[in-house]
Amino acid sequence: MTSTQESKDTSSKGTYVRDMFASIAPRYDLANRVLTAGFDELWRRSAIDRLGVNTSDAILDLCCGTGDICFHLVRRDPTLNVTGVDFCTPMLERARQRAQRKAPHAHLKFVEADVMALPFADTSFDGATMGFSLRNVVDIDATLKEIRRVLRPGARFVNLDVSKAPNRLFKRAFDVYFYAIVPMVGGIVGGSKSAYKYLPASLTHHPDAPALEDRFKAAGFVNCGYAPLCGGTIAIHFGAAP
Ligand SMILES: C[S@@+](CC[C@H](N)C(=O)[O-])C[C@H]1O[C@@H](n2cnc3c(N)ncnc32)[C@H](O)[C@@H]1O
Repeated sequence: MTSTQESKDTSSKGTYVRDMFASIAPRYDLANRVLTAGFDELWRRSAIDRLGVNTSDAILDLCCGTGDICFHLVRRDPTLNVTGVDFCTPMLERARQRAQRKAPHAHLKFVEADVMALPFADTSFDGATMGFSLRNVVDIDATLKEIRRVLRPGARFVNLDVSKAPNRLFKRAFDVYFYAIVPMVGGIVGGSKSAYKYLPASLTHHPDAPALEDRFKAAGFVNCGYAPLCGGTIAIHFGAAP
């Protein structure tokens, strides 16, 4: 493949992902709650537990979508300065509307940008989070390096996402749910069957949990590890900037 062809393919993946999230933005939160029976919020809180925040810390939530992790962060500690970043305008519009209702006094702002090219200076943040998104970025390694760049030394990055269960029987049961039930229910509740077909498919070529930990290390993070949840179908990866 030529480099021109490659960059065309990667940019078309980015455009596809952005348009797909724009199409499901109005019902994204409802679909999440239904598809996970409300467990998604519990997993987000568990991810934040691993971040370890201090008073007035500046925290970056990457691929913030409609803002769920941002709202958990400011609820956890109202002194935090939280910045949510996403490249999908309709998702950010919902995040801003929700912020007016849910957290009008929080130090919370939303910035439209691609997480592979963050509009922030080196070492500007005391911590970073990402939820259910690393599978969707065009280049995982470039994204991880970019996240490390904006973290001050010692600051942690915590990534929550679906993962590949190590137990084969468990994995098979999860695959039925993820590849058959999610597209069907997501299509009805979320309003787009094709979007909810893409989301599970994005896990297929994603590294498994140990391999993703290696990618964190390769991007320069230290003290890396991961915590499997729900039999390893969900994983919280973490690492710190050196
Ligand atoms: C599955 S949603 C997750 C939203 C939120 N983090 C949550 O926990 O619900 C994925 C989000 O990642 C965003 N996204 C994907 N690739 C991106 C990129 N390269 N830069 C910025 N946002 C991106 C999408 O627009 C979408 O809002």
